[in-house]
Amino acid sequence: MKKQCYLSMKTDFFYAGEETAIANLIANRHCAILVDSNTNGFCLPKICRLIPKLSTCAVLAIPAGEFYKNEEVLHFIYDNLLRLNAQKNTLLISLGGGVVSDITGFAAATFMRGIDCLHIPTTFLAMTDAASGGKTAINFNGIKNLIGAFHPPIAVYINPIFLTTLSERFIIEGFVETIKHFLIASEIDWLKIEDLKAWQEFLNLETIQKSIAIKNNFVAKDPLDKGIRQALNFGHSIGHAAESKSQTTKQPLLHGEAILYGMIVELAISEILFGLNRHLREKLVEYNNQILKIVLPKFTLEELLPYLIFDKKNETSIIKMSLLSKLAIPEIKVKVSQNIIEQALKLL
Ligand SMILES: NC(=O)c1ccc[n+]([C@@H]2O[C@H](COP(=O)([O-])OP(=O)(O)OC[C@H]3O[C@@H](n4cnc5c(N)ncnc54)[C@H](O)[C@@H]3O)[C@@H](O)[C@H]2O)c1
Repeated sequence: MKKQCYLSMKTDFFYAGEETAIANLIANRHCAILVDSNTNGFCLPKICRLIPKLSTCAVLAIPAGEFYKNEEVLHFIYDNLLRLNAQKNTLLISLGGGVVSDITGFAAATFMRGIDCLHIPTTFLAMTDAASGGKTAINFNGIKNLIGAFHPPIAVYINPIFLTTLSERFIIEGFVETIKHFLIASEIDWLKIEDLKAWQEFLNLETIQKSIAIKNNFVAKDPLDKGIRQALNFGHSIGHAAESKSQTTKQPLLHGEAILYGMIVELAISEILFGLNRHLREKLVEYNNQILKIVLPKFTLEELLPYLIFDKKNETSIIKMSLLSKLAIPEIKVKVSQNIIEQALKLL
């Protein structure tokens, strides 16, 4: 008899109204569902009403927040998978934001050298970005996503119903990755953003689907992130450094907040290196001041540098970034000197 292969490289996307497809996917499979302390209360009852079969899954609850995307929580997941007699055909399901999908994905990538995972994103950021593309990671020694693997979920189920309980701060930070997608790949959608009068206007399935489509297009061309997929890292060299640095301060930034800061600095770097029109940066700052209202940090080069050196995009200690030469024209693997970063920080 032919053995069924459980490990998949392809992701199917399902949306609100397609619950039967998810129910069919999990039928006859041993499943465990990972939640955090918020999604356990806010989202688990909703998803069990929508897909009753999920109420038979074992639930593993981890504490909420970026701090817990760490090796201790990973061990907790491995311990529980062993306790539950998980096998090669066990399906690990994430129900949560990017923290839960990243750590679920990494646990699934490594447990028994790889078991399937399925993501049910419950934040705007996870719906539009983190749950797709197959990048999984935990933070280590204070460095973002240092330990990770590529492990695409077999499926992602997206239902904006979860967003009703998400706080305004998390909704807004989640939109930043969508702005990034439009800046690197869709002039039309960026221009539409410029016209939005309130952040509530972007909370719809159309925006979510456009954002996912842009990401998936890059991922399909370069699944292992060796080339053009790195365009998606625009804003992330400075952004990740700012996110890590901010964890040592009294005002830790959320991921999307740090990426907005990163995009503004990297637009300034793009102006210096590629003559990018500064109107783009000014518009983004104005949009933030009027609509997003994210409080941006003011870091010096010295504060960011230790984290920039450890960025995974650098093959040596030379800092490399993904930038923009024009709206929707990304440039990858651009070497950026410390002097240029310093000049850019002065432009803000
Ligand atoms: N793998 C990728 O491609 C990728 C891409 C972008 C970001 N990320 C990662 O994603 C993470 C950030 O994700 P995030 O912003 O979703 O953070 P998160 O997972 O920490 O969720 C944000 C907060 O909202 C709570 N929450 C989640 N859903 C809720 C709901 N429906 N109602 C009420 N509360 C809810 C969570 O408990 C948490 O407190 C970062 O670790 C980042 O590195 C990964």
